[in-house]
Parts: sequence; C-alpha cells; structure tokens
Amino acid sequence: MSKIRLGIIFGGQSSEHEVSRMSAFNVFNAIDREKYEPVMIGITKNTGEWLIYEGPIEAVYDGSWQEKAEADLLQYPERFALSLMGNTGRQLRDIIDFALPILHGRNGEDGTVQGLFELIGLPYGGCSVAPSALAMDKTLAKEAFRGAGINQTPYIAFNAWEICPELEARINAELRYPVFIKPVNMGSSIGITKVKDPADLRAALEFAAQYDSKLLAEQGVDARELEVAVMGYRTPKAYEVGELVLGAEFYDYDDKYTNGVSKQLVPAPIDAELREKIMRLAENCYAALGCDGYARVDFMMDRQTGELMINEINSIPGFTKISMFPMLVQSTGIKYGEIVDMIVEMGLERHSYTKKLD
Ligand SMILES: Nc1ncnc2c1ncn2[C@@H]1O[C@H](COP(=O)(O)OP(=O)(O)O)[C@@H](O)[C@H]1O
Ligand SMILES: [Mg+2]
Repeated sequence: MSKIRLGIIFGGQSSEHEVSRMSAFNVFNAIDREKYEPVMIGITKNTGEWLIYEGPIEAVYDGSWQEKAEADLLQYPERFALSLMGNTGRQLRDIIDFALPILHGRNGEDGTVQGLFELIGLPYGGCSVAPSALAMDKTLAKEAFRGAGINQTPYIAFNAWEICPELEARINAELRYPVFIKPVNMGSSIGITKVKDPADLRAALEFAAQYDSKLLAEQGVDARELEVAVMGYRTPKAYEVGELVLGAEFYDYDDKYTNGVSKQLVPAPIDAELREKIMRLAENCYAALGCDGYARVDFMMDRQTGELMINEINSIPGFTKISMFPMLVQSTGIKYGEIVDMIVEMGLERHSYTKKLD
C-alpha cells in the first residue's frame, strides 16, 4: 500500500495562528511514517497566502518557516508555486491525498477551508462545512442547541449596529449580572468582557463590536468548566471529561497561552455518574450541530446548583501535546498518533460516502 500524502495545513490569518503552528508541529512529529508522508502547507498570518514548506520542522514551531518557504517559492517556482483551484501550476489536489486542517478560528475552523476541500474533491479531517460554520458562530450554535432542547445560560443575540440605550435596558432587565459580552465569531476569549457593573456595559459592547458585527450578551455563571473530547463520523463517541481550573477572572487569552496559571485536570475530579451524564450530553450537543469529525465540547456547571449548561463546541480544538482534546483521548489509552489515524479514517469514509451521492 502506498503512503497517504498527508497535507498538514497550519497557520492562517487568525488570532490563533501561533497555537496552530504548535499543534501542527506536534502532529508532524507524531504521525506514523509507515502510513503517511507529511506535506506541510502553511498559511501566512499577514496575507493568507498558502505556501508549501519543506525544511526543518522546528521552523514551524518558531515561525521562521515562512521566510524559507517564500525564498523557495522565488527560487524554484515550478516546485513551490501552489494553486488551490484552477488549471495552471501545481494543484493542491495533486500534491496531497488528504488534507488535515490544523487551523483555529476564522478562515480555518469555520467551514471556509472545508468548503474549498469539498470544491476540489479532496478528503479532509474534522467536521464538514455546515457543523464547522455552526460551531464557529456562537449565536447559530445556541439556536441549534435550543432546538435540540439542550440547557444553556440565558442570552440575548444582537448586531453591533443595534447597540443603543434600549438594548442596554433590555440586557439589564433580562440578564443577571455579571454579564458576558462576546463577539459571535472569535476564539481564545478575544473581545470578551465580563461585566460586573451596568455602568461598564456600554464600553464592553463597543469593545466586542471591534471584533464582529454579531454580538452576544450572556448571563454569567459561577461555574466549573468541564470539557469533553468527542469523535465520530456518524455516531458520536465521548472519550473523557476534563476540567479547566482558572487562574484569572475568566479563561482569557493570556491564561490560555502564556501565563500558564490555569490548570487542566484530566480526568475531571467528578463522580462516575456525573461523568457518564456529561459524556452523553456532550454526544447530544455534538449531534445537535451535525458534527461529523471530532470536537471539544465545553460545558459550564453551576457551582451552587450543579446545573449543566453547554457553552460552546470547538470543531478544531487545540492539538498540541498539552492541549485538552488530545490529553482527554490519550487518557483512554489511545496514542496521539492514533488520534490522527482515526481522524483520517473518518475523513476518508465521509469522502467515499458523499462521492457515492453525487
Ligand atoms: N456565560 C458565562 N459565564 C461564566 N463564564 C463565562 C461565560 N461565558 C464565557 N465565560 C468564560 O470566558 C471564557 C471564554 O468564553 P468562550 O465563550 O468559551 O469563548 P472562546 O470561544 O473565546 O473560548 C470561558 O472559558 C469562561 O471562562
Ligand atoms: Mg471557549
């Protein structure tokens, strides 16, 4: 059997570009070389250009890959010029057999890149277009969860151009403080403010509006944050529940990536019955968005009442060695490299099924 040319797509025009590089570095090092021939394809942060990268993998980790890839492109255009679609140059679909997008946030996790792979007929790893787009749009995801009867914290969805004193009055009347104001389409807590005092509401709304035109106000919950790794093409399977113990006021960008003050507990210190309940609930949430690859399903559990609420689904969760998703799956005895095998198998299965439908 010939090796699968596995395109590891990393970087991207996203605030989570750096995390993506670290994840891609780990994936590259972990995959089974008997099965795969990795092809690194980086998307630049500044212009969103796709570049073939051939060189030491450490450069993907430290960011210097881009310089090398750009130099190679200038020097050997016939080898490095890459065309995503069209009729000229080296075509993406001719240089890889399978695309594994390890991209977070906009233009990567949101169905756009998945749509490109569909258009050019390339099998790919992770959720397909619709669930990716739903998971990325926090408001649409909430509507889908509501449709499936899944419990969540009270919220109000609105547009940036609707910010006015009446909207503020509605938030104050319908939601209990603290209130979280969020842009609908970001990740890594960017643009989010925890508002404790109604006097600070306006500033939080205007801040979030810098990141997206669709916004959300959510009732704050004094919660434990429980996260579940789920995988499955047709039948979702939850692997394990983990807990995030926060260092800062809430889980913000610094906390996630730089401070290291928050702790990840794998598995979460909860009893067997609750664990079972959360895992089944996570599978239902995954199915509610039509997820068909893998995802991390994040819950909040009220510290006082024990009430469980879905917070969000990440359709391409962090994939570094110390990220919650791989740690959860690994805790069940599956190796990091085997997670990639499972993702590839599901993507191939989906591809052959949808091809039959054409
Ligand atoms: N309604 C809420 N109540 C309490 N904490 C919240 C609420 N919404 C968000 N948070 C806190 O903010 C963090 C980031 O919010 P989240 O919606 O998960 O956005 P992101 O997509 O950026 O991860 C959460 O992990 C949690 O710590
Ligand atoms: Mg989150």
